[in-house]
Amino acid sequence: MHGRAGTVLKSQQHGELMKVVVAGGTGLIRRQVVGMLRSSGRDAVSAAPLTGVGTLTGQGMKQVLKGADVVVDAFNSPSFQAKTSLDFFTRSAQNLIAAAQRAGVRRYVMLSVIGADQLPENGYFRAKSAQEGVLRDSELPYTIVRAARFFEFVAPVMGLSTRGGRVHLPSTQLRPVAAADVAAAVATSVEEEPLYGVRQIAGPETHRLNRLGELTPAARPDDRRVVTDENAGLFAGIPDGVLTGGTTVSTALTCYEDRLKQNSRKSMIRAGAL
Ligand SMILES: NC(=O)c1ccc[n+]([C@@H]2O[C@H](COP(=O)([O-])OP(=O)(O)OC[C@H]3O[C@@H](n4cnc5c(N)ncnc54)[C@H](OP(=O)(O)O)[C@@H]3O)[C@@H](O)[C@H]2O)c1
Repeated sequence: MHGRAGTVLKSQQHGELMKVVVAGGTGLIRRQVVGMLRSSGRDAVSAAPLTGVGTLTGQGMKQVLKGADVVVDAFNSPSFQAKTSLDFFTRSAQNLIAAAQRAGVRRYVMLSVIGADQLPENGYFRAKSAQEGVLRDSELPYTIVRAARFFEFVAPVMGLSTRGGRVHLPSTQLRPVAAADVAAAVATSVEEEPLYGVRQIAGPETHRLNRLGELTPAARPDDRRVVTDENAGLFAGIPDGVLTGGTTVSTALTCYEDRLKQNSRKSMIRAGAL
């Protein structure tokens, strides 16, 4: 049973700067979450191996959490392999949550994935569900932000899916979202009262992964062709609807094709063509 009273943060009581520790804060989401929080006057600190903090080893955790009001948990497993990711997410969440409780943290925001609770046969999603479970079972006031796949993940997935000069992608249904829009949802959850539940965020449009590949020329050097391969990669065989989040999703504004146009314009400006 969670006590909902007492979520006033230490910093709010004493008129001090709210300290937010962003674990995984050197990853894809980090610049935006840390940057957004700092620009709204928060003392936001990154905690990742690159800054001397390990969620698996516990190294540097006590020091970085000293005086923290809020923890954002946005670390990612170095491997998507089922056993490794399950072990990583479970142990990392246990270590970070225990350390946060010892440090008197009053609010915990976890970044998770849409579909985490619906794909027990998929090792990565099972690991994310287990990570969520560690938080739900803790005494910490929490919000889980489940995000759709980031725009920024499309090109790396295409790189990993290239064989014999072709990009093999399944037609899995997605609602891709800009990492910046996810970061904004995370930053909002840092400021708001804990939900003791889930907030979902996805992009404005539903796409299929093979079609996203066709739309992404920067990840197709030499006009590499995309071939539809329903057995390819981590997202193979996921039924329609699972990764789009249903009706309870908040819809972010940025469209994938608009983002591609912006990126292409930026590259042309950098190359001196505009
Ligand atoms: N990518 C997507 O499309 C997507 C979509 C929805 C949700 N998510 C969720 O968003 C979260 C972040 O994903 P991402 O794609 O942004 O990850 P990412 O870019 O791969 O970044 C991973 C971060 O985790 C850190 N990390 C790795 N091992 C760590 C450890 N032992 N202790 C502390 N930090 C550690 C890394 O630190 P170093 O930089 O120091 O190595 C890095 O800062 C994950 O929970 C993921 O499930 C991702």
